[in-house]
Amino acid sequence: MTFVMNPLLYSAVIKQGKQLDFHEFSDAAASTTFGFPAIRTARFPGLSDKIQKSFLLLQGSYLNSLRRKMMENLQFVLKQDFLSAQAEGRENDWRQKDLYEFCERVMFEATFLTLYGRPPKTNTDAHLQRKSWLDALLDNFKKFDAMLPLLIAGIPISLLGRTKSIREQIIRFFHPHRMAEWTSPSEFIQARVEIFEQYDTLGDLDKAAHHFAILWASLGNTVSACFWGLYHLLSSPQAFSVVREEIFGMFGNKEPDLILSQDTLTQEQLDKLIYLESAINESLRLSSISMNIRVVQKDFCLQLNPHFSVSVRKGDIVTLYPQSTHLDPDIYPNPQEYQFDRFVENGKLKTEFFKGNQKIRYYHMPFGSGATMCPGRFFAISELKQFLSITLLMYDMQLTAGQQHATMDKSRAGLGIMSPGNHIFFRYRVDMQLTAGQQHATMDKSRAGLGIMSPGNHIFFRYRVKKNSM
Ligand code: HEM
Repeated sequence: MTFVMNPLLYSAVIKQGKQLDFHEFSDAAASTTFGFPAIRTARFPGLSDKIQKSFLLLQGSYLNSLRRKMMENLQFVLKQDFLSAQAEGRENDWRQKDLYEFCERVMFEATFLTLYGRPPKTNTDAHLQRKSWLDALLDNFKKFDAMLPLLIAGIPISLLGRTKSIREQIIRFFHPHRMAEWTSPSEFIQARVEIFEQYDTLGDLDKAAHHFAILWASLGNTVSACFWGLYHLLSSPQAFSVVREEIFGMFGNKEPDLILSQDTLTQEQLDKLIYLESAINESLRLSSISMNIRVVQKDFCLQLNPHFSVSVRKGDIVTLYPQSTHLDPDIYPNPQEYQFDRFVENGKLKTEFFKGNQKIRYYHMPFGSGATMCPGRFFAISELKQFLSITLLMYDMQLTAGQQHATMDKSRAGLGIMSPGNHIFFRYRVDMQLTAGQQHATMDKSRAGLGIMSPGNHIFFRYRVKKNSM
């Protein structure tokens, strides 16, 4: 493996799209990890290109409907959390939780519902019905995810205890017959269902395994990114107050009566939250440990700059390791320090960074680089902004006093965002009430036959948010 460590030389690697191939490595790793047949073969002509094209449905104007659904689902999940506390008569009490598990539970359900739609029965108030399929899936997902670094490293799944049967259970969850019953899947997942249907050579469980791979791609890094985003904000009073003020400012300081709706944070509003975006970029900078791997297609001399080249052989691996850039003190002074406003300059997002006197193009790479960059990156940033905004709006939150700082679990080096290496606890409480004096919710029967009824009238509720809770 040849590691290119100097970010000023990254462009030379990234522009060699043909001789340094990304898909050879990632396709092989994905098919053995998630359990579907390799796609770049004569059995599946054109499939790989169609899959790549489907990624466009995570971007551009398609992002609007993803964002709207995500907001609706985040509120749905957090409301259920509130209702379950209410059922126990402690809705206004402080509740203590493991911060990572909180992020995981909320993001898992909200992301699943946004991408794949609702399995039957999920939209009822029967919290327990909803819980059983979700908890079983999340439980399996966590067990599988714990083994993922070993699978990517090429350890045969048969040597990894129950991992194979856990993977089979998850894959069966995505069986096309089951998915056909789920309502309102995203355009992205719908398009993938249609693509897979065009291939008789793809068995039902192969299709299901592809859907599982997307479940992992959409959550494997996002949950940890939410954890670090929230953890750093809760650890830094200044960051917390500036970012929270920015979010409140978006609503003309209308608190404490904030009516959250599906359209609370439009894309335009999200784009304006630059301190929040900077805080997210900063926590991604500190926690990203991905590797950008390229496989050499033929023996050649890789010219890195006019004075420097390296000879590489067919089959060699050339790697960029962005963490060395993210922690380079020439680029980011005091690189180990969390500075929430590092990416803000003159009231705008800062995009110019220098190493020595030279401006560098690739200074922030949690989503990879070049043509193979993460196709879900815009959705991911939008999800992170939504998750952080809505939790900051809804809750009083504090890290539990007297615990150690969060450490990073380095066993996932190369795979994206590090998860925390220790448990971090926080406490939170919400002050939320249905607005007084309104009618009960009615049901909109015009959708009879189509699944779950929507409400027939508007129902308002309020969150009481205390501004100075730190
Ligand atoms: C903070 C969250 C995320 C991070 C840090 C992240 C990071 C990455 C990275 C580093 C890659 C490999 C790119 C390369 O090496 O050039 C990747 C690939 C990918 N990501 Fe993400 N990702 C995130 C969220 C998402 C989300 C929400 C989705 C939505 C479905 C997604 C879908 C994908 C897919 C499908 C690929 C494979 C692309 C391909 O095969 O060409 N990611 N991601």
